[in-house]
Order: sequence, then C-alpha cells, then structure tokens
Amino acid sequence: MSINIAIDGPAGAGKSTIARKAAAELGFIYVDTGALYRSVAYYCISAGADVSAPESVEKLLPEITPELRFIDGVQHVFVNGSDVSDKIRTPEVSMAASKVSAIPAVRAFLFDLQKKIARENDIIMDGRDIGTVVLPDADLKIFLTASPEARADRRYMELKDKPDAPTYEQVLADIIKRDHDDSTRAIAPLKQADDAVLCDTTKLSLEESVETIIGMIKKVKDGNNR
Ligand code: DC
Repeated sequence: MSINIAIDGPAGAGKSTIARKAAAELGFIYVDTGALYRSVAYYCISAGADVSAPESVEKLLPEITPELRFIDGVQHVFVNGSDVSDKIRTPEVSMAASKVSAIPAVRAFLFDLQKKIARENDIIMDGRDIGTVVLPDADLKIFLTASPEARADRRYMELKDKPDAPTYEQVLADIIKRDHDDSTRAIAPLKQADDAVLCDTTKLSLEESVETIIGMIKKVKDGNNR
C-alpha cells in the first residue's frame, strides 16, 4: 500500500517548497496538483478561449492531455506531449487557473489522474482539495497556511527579478483575490478537512516549516513500517 500525504492551503503558504523538500528527504514523490489546473488554463489561453466562460473551457477539454512526468524526482507538466512546466508560472496563468479550477467539468477531468498517481506511489500531494475530495483517506492531512502579507512577501521575493515582475501591492492583491475565489467557489472550495493538522508558517522560517512537516510525516511512515 502506498503512503499518501495531503497538503492543502492557500496560494503562497509555502506548500510546494516545503512539500518538495520533505519529499526529497523522505523518498516520496512530490505531486503539485496546481500545475494540472495551470496546464489546462495555459492551453485554454493559448487556444484563445475565454477562461471566464465555462462552455468555452469545457469544449476544449477533449483536446487536452495533461500528464505529470517525474524526471530525476522532479515533476514536469506536459500538455499534449510538450513540457509546459515553466510557461504555466506567469501571473496571467495563475489568475486563469483559479478561474478554470472553479469549473466542475475541469475538476472531474483532473480527478482520475490525481487518484491514479496516489494509488501507485508514496506521495506528498499538494493542492486545495486533496484532503477533502481527492484523497479523503490520506494517511496524513496537513493544512498549511500563513498570513496574506507573509505569503505576498514570499511570492514577491520569488518573482521580483523576473522580467515584467509585479509590484508587492499587485502580488498581495492577487493573493487576496485568489484566496477569496478559491474559498468561496461552489465546488471543492479551499477548506481545512476536519481531520487535518493545522500548520501556520507565518512566523516560521522555511527550514523550521520543513522540519515540522518532516517530523509529522516520519511518524506516519514509521507507523506504517511497523
Ligand atoms: O497552487 P497553485 O497556485 O499552483 O494553484 C493554481 C490554481 O489552481 C489555484 O488558484 C487553485 C487551483 N487549484 C485547485 O483548485 N485545486 C487544487 N488541488 C490545486 C489548485
């Protein structure tokens, strides 16, 4: 039986960085499910679709084959055979991913792929609805959060040296808007599962956050080996 760890939480809480490091240390595969929603959004934008109109997104789904490949332990996202891992990280794709992720047909479309990866591997999977919808029987559920300002600070530091970097105020405004949209949508809203452990990283350094999470996962792993 594979071990499944679910990490959910809002944008910029450090889920991906923390989960990636913990997975590398513990020999798990790290699965970033946000990348799947981003890959759908990216395809729709490239095809000229209006991502705010569910029908135009739904119409394109049969043309999209998203795939996660793990190359040297690192997740790459492919759409129809092309590696789009870098192209899906722009602010435009972030906003579009939030929009397409509210469409039930898109969530259904990506559900089986996420389940299959979890069935076949020891994974740390991060997203918004992993503990509540995708892996309700996960061995451990963590809800990772931090204040909007702390999250905007971290995201800004990642983006500030890139071409066309947004200002800190834009990053904060985007985070607040995405939090609102992700938690108030009708389907699979961002919410802590009843049996998830809350971990607030506002005052923790990255190293402290990683250590906390690794400690939690090790207990589960050791329990499973007994
Ligand atoms: O984690 P991220 O910023 O890469 O996610 C992009 C968008 O996808 C985000 O606005 C919420 C959505 N998402 C989701 O609805 N469910 C998931 N399991 C993962 C991401």
